[in-house]
Amino acid sequence: MSVKATRVTLARHRTGTEPATDLLTSDRVQLPDPGLGQVLVRTTHVQVAAVMADLMLEHPNLPMAGYQLGAPVWGAAVGEVIAAGDGGLSVGTAVMHMKGWQDHVLAGPYEAFPVDPRLPEPYFAINQGVTAHHGMVDIARVREGDVVFVSGAAGGVGSLAGQVAKALGASRVIGSAGSAAKCIYLTEVLGYDAAINYRDGRVLADLREAAPEGVDVVFDTVGGEQFEAAVQAAAPGARLALCGALSGQLDDGPGAHPRLDVMTAIAKDLVILPFTTMHTPEQLQAWNSAYGSWLAEGALVYPHTLVSGGLQAAPVVLDELLAGTHRGNVLVQVAT
Ligand SMILES: NC(=O)c1ccc[n+]([C@@H]2O[C@H](COP(=O)([O-])OP(=O)(O)OC[C@H]3O[C@@H](n4cnc5c(N)ncnc54)[C@H](OP(=O)(O)O)[C@@H]3O)[C@@H](O)[C@H]2O)c1
Repeated sequence: MSVKATRVTLARHRTGTEPATDLLTSDRVQLPDPGLGQVLVRTTHVQVAAVMADLMLEHPNLPMAGYQLGAPVWGAAVGEVIAAGDGGLSVGTAVMHMKGWQDHVLAGPYEAFPVDPRLPEPYFAINQGVTAHHGMVDIARVREGDVVFVSGAAGGVGSLAGQVAKALGASRVIGSAGSAAKCIYLTEVLGYDAAINYRDGRVLADLREAAPEGVDVVFDTVGGEQFEAAVQAAAPGARLALCGALSGQLDDGPGAHPRLDVMTAIAKDLVILPFTTMHTPEQLQAWNSAYGSWLAEGALVYPHTLVSGGLQAAPVVLDELLAGTHRGNVLVQVAT
């Protein structure tokens, strides 16, 4: 079986804050029949994530490949095997791949992986949990009784990071987000104990109120003012896992680049830990094992926004995500 695939591709590199819809286009290519060990996958869902805006820069300065002109936008996606060459996965298998915004893909033996059958729906496999889990377990080393602050808590990573901390035994988890509705989502759906709307302009005061004894672990996806507040509200010996810098990536205004109060960091003996998640086999295995169990036990919900509209909706959804419209892990449904 051979099919024509529709792909969303990069037409020009980002140079500022142009909308993704201005930078992307689409094309159609004929895919050959699957050969030895290959499968033809019909994509059903694709991921939309903040990092995609950075990957559209000509020089993203990230430990991963930027998008190439004329090439499809790569990223996590799930779908179903519809044809297979000799030795390939069986037709009908639900798989995950990283070939991104394409409605059909040809995948080799190490390019499409069966989805964990414990997941309620195959698209639950699209999530930022590897980073949330690695950051909380291996970097911040959350332990029983810790008070934890997660910035960007309603985002793809943050919406899982707080839940991971709780599952690891944190006694109190505080999150920040950019609207009252997102703060309600944090406390009523994701199990956060307190939520701070950073747009109220009282981040440090609210953090001190939410954690009067200080914060033991900071999981920062935002930087800027929120990182500076976290340093002030940190308990002695606190671990600060630095995951992202959304305020610098998405908003070049004042506060995008935080200043470290070095004397406070010294006096409190703070441990500041920037990290990159390389998605090693060990990290993937550790997260997928915990995720399946925690979902089954009800210790965790899959925080996500599922948008319909097909592949052509994906660039619009990315612009909406950057503007703060969506919450959790954001997916576009490409096919049923
Ligand atoms: N270290 C690693 O290995 C690793 C791996 C994956 C991702 N990351 C990084 O982690 C961060 C979070 O990624 P994600 O995919 O979960 O992103 P995300 O939270 O889904 O990003 C979108 C959200 O960013 C928030 N935002 C927009 N402008 C902001 C600003 N000026 N200040 C604060 N928040 C703002 C908005 O939420 P509000 O409405 O709440 O403002 C929006 O919903 C990113 O920096 C990403 O590059 C790092």
